[in-house]
Amino acid sequence: MTLDLAVVVSGGGSNLQSIIDRAEQGVLDARIRLVLSNNPEAGGLERARRHGLPLAAKAHQDFPSRLAFDQWMLERIREAGAATVALAGYMRLLTPEFLSAFGPDQVVNIHPALLPSFPGVHGQGDAAAYGVKLSGCTVHFVDEKMDHGPVIVQAAVPAVPGEDGASLGARILELEHRIYPQALQWLARGRLRLEGRHVHVSGAGDPATAAPVTGAYLVNPPLEMGF
Ligand code: GRF
Repeated sequence: MTLDLAVVVSGGGSNLQSIIDRAEQGVLDARIRLVLSNNPEAGGLERARRHGLPLAAKAHQDFPSRLAFDQWMLERIREAGAATVALAGYMRLLTPEFLSAFGPDQVVNIHPALLPSFPGVHGQGDAAAYGVKLSGCTVHFVDEKMDHGPVIVQAAVPAVPGEDGASLGARILELEHRIYPQALQWLARGRLRLEGRHVHVSGAGDPATAAPVTGAYLVNPPLEMGF
C-alpha cells in the first residue's frame, strides 16, 4: 500500500526532507498529501514549496484553544485525503480529539533521544547535560502523553563527554533521517503490528541473530536496503 501522508512540522523540516527524498527515490511508498505547520515561518514549508507539495500553515496562537487548532489541522488533513500523520519536529501535544480521528497506528513521531529517557523539547541537550554515554532517536506511535507511545525503532549514537546538545544532536539527526523513512516504509507495507506497548516488525532481521548495526551505530530493528 502507499501511505497517504500528512507531515506536520514546526521548524526546519530536515526530517520532512528525508521523507520527501526517500519517497522521490521510490524506496518509501508514500504520497505526501499535505505539509502542515503551526508556524508560518517554518523552514519546512519552503522545502514543501520546492517540491511542489500542498501545504497549510497557521500560527497556533491565532486560535482560541489547542482543540480549535487541532480541528483546523484535522479539516485540512481530511480535505487533502491523508490517512496517516507523521510528526516531524512538531513541537506541540495533540489533543485526544485529534488522535481519536486516527487509528492507534496511524500517527507517528520522531524524538531525538532514546525514550523513555529525555522526553520533551530539549532531548539532545538534556541527554548531553546528563552525561549519558549513549543517546539516539526513537520513532514511535503517538498517544495522548508526550513522547510516550509504542516504540517502532530506535537508533543509538555515542555521546562525547563535555559536548553540548547541538553537537550530540547533529549526530542523532543523521540517524533520524534514516530511521524515520524506514519506519514509515514498514508501516506502508503493513509490517507493523501493535500489541499493547509492543510493536512487532514482521520480517525484520532478528536482533539476536542479525547484526543490527549501521555504520558505527546500533539500530534496532536493523535498517533495510535503501535506508
Ligand atoms: C528533530 O531532532 C526532531 O526529532 C525533533 O526536532 C528536530 C526537528 O528537526 N522533534 P527538523 O525540523 O526535522 O529538521
